[in-house]
Amino acid sequence: MIEYLNEITKIKALAGSPGKKAGAGMTGLQHAELAVRFHTTMPGYRVTPLAKLDQLAKSFGIAGIYVKDESCRFGLNAFKVLGGAFAIASLLAEKLGMDISRVSFDMLRSGEVRSRLGDAVFVTATDGNHGRGVAWTAEKLGFRSVVYLPKGAAAARVDAIREAGAEVIVTDLNYDDAVRLAARMAEEKGWWLVQDTAFEGYEKVPAWIMQGYTTMAAEAVEQLRLYGEQRPTHVFLQAGVGSMAGAVLGYLVNRYGADYPATIIVEPENAACIYKSAGSEDKKLCKAEGSLETIMAGLACGEPCPIAWEILRDYSDYYCTCPDYVAAKGMRILANPLGNDPKVVSGESGAVGAGLLAILMQNRELAAMRDSFGLDEKSVVLLFSTEGNTDPGNYRDVVWDGKYPSV
Ligand SMILES: Cc1ncc(COP(=O)(O)O)c(C=O)c1O
Repeated sequence: MIEYLNEITKIKALAGSPGKKAGAGMTGLQHAELAVRFHTTMPGYRVTPLAKLDQLAKSFGIAGIYVKDESCRFGLNAFKVLGGAFAIASLLAEKLGMDISRVSFDMLRSGEVRSRLGDAVFVTATDGNHGRGVAWTAEKLGFRSVVYLPKGAAAARVDAIREAGAEVIVTDLNYDDAVRLAARMAEEKGWWLVQDTAFEGYEKVPAWIMQGYTTMAAEAVEQLRLYGEQRPTHVFLQAGVGSMAGAVLGYLVNRYGADYPATIIVEPENAACIYKSAGSEDKKLCKAEGSLETIMAGLACGEPCPIAWEILRDYSDYYCTCPDYVAAKGMRILANPLGNDPKVVSGESGAVGAGLLAILMQNRELAAMRDSFGLDEKSVVLLFSTEGNTDPGNYRDVVWDGKYPSV
């Protein structure tokens, strides 16, 4: 196993050993089709933009950079609702004995459905975006929701979830313990847990959530095709518990077969549970210990999602960990486009892939890492800016005032 450690940039990389084979079942194309079909029935559904950053690509010496801009997703400033909404719909369809392939959002908010299901309560734990998506979906469908947040959650994120209609409880726990609390409360109160990570005995809902995320990947692939790109050569996927990365990677494997893009999983250095698992003997699930402190709140998770890990373990090419300044650099780059490139408002967890790409292409110290990733003048890179400025105060501090400067 090759591990690259750079003392100046503090970026670490680990090579995976993917078999480059096809077929990551759970996020098969037929599941993605179901998710896309359902999402298109939701009020306000629109394909989010895929920003084409030609000038930036030119300045980095690569062939193309495309950024999927999830700040526009249902007015919720992040991709996450795709998972929560599809899982809630699938859960309700199951309870009602309906086939999800025939269910629309309007059907689920009908009086008849309400009278059959009564006063169900959805519960989850979140570092922000997932809880907002669950709260928004529950409210639109006429149900209650209860959302637990870890300690230190940004006030703007807490307010956004409350405004979306949830009862919000900020705990003094870290993300992983907040998940356990939500699961316990679901058990005790008979609430329905809609959690974006799996654990023993709880896999169906997180699998639906991952299938929901594949809509974002399916849109991006179609948009790339419309831009005339056959396929990206590289994709950077940031990971908290890894559900998003696993879902997108699974989709790409199913879509492109053995020719799927080189995939780089990106995590904050203080919450690198996927990296740790990838580096462990027998590639078994490992926890990131400690405070998990990072400005990338959406990625501050210490325990990987087991069903996502199986995909990441088998198909990822590289795993990287980054200090916070890398995300800040990505936020500034996407906020200040070159030439006629479009601007992308990208928050901390959304921008880390762009920051890492920039550093790889600009810093001599990382030449070996860049070469091993195969990034060169032929490379077409796909990035997912998974959130906008979900913490507007920190966004301004970073973009206007240069907080977390580059090394
Ligand atoms: C903006 C953003 N990007 C990425 C992620 C990572 O998703 P996952 O926890 O599925 O790895 C999250 C998770 O909350 C997020 O909020």
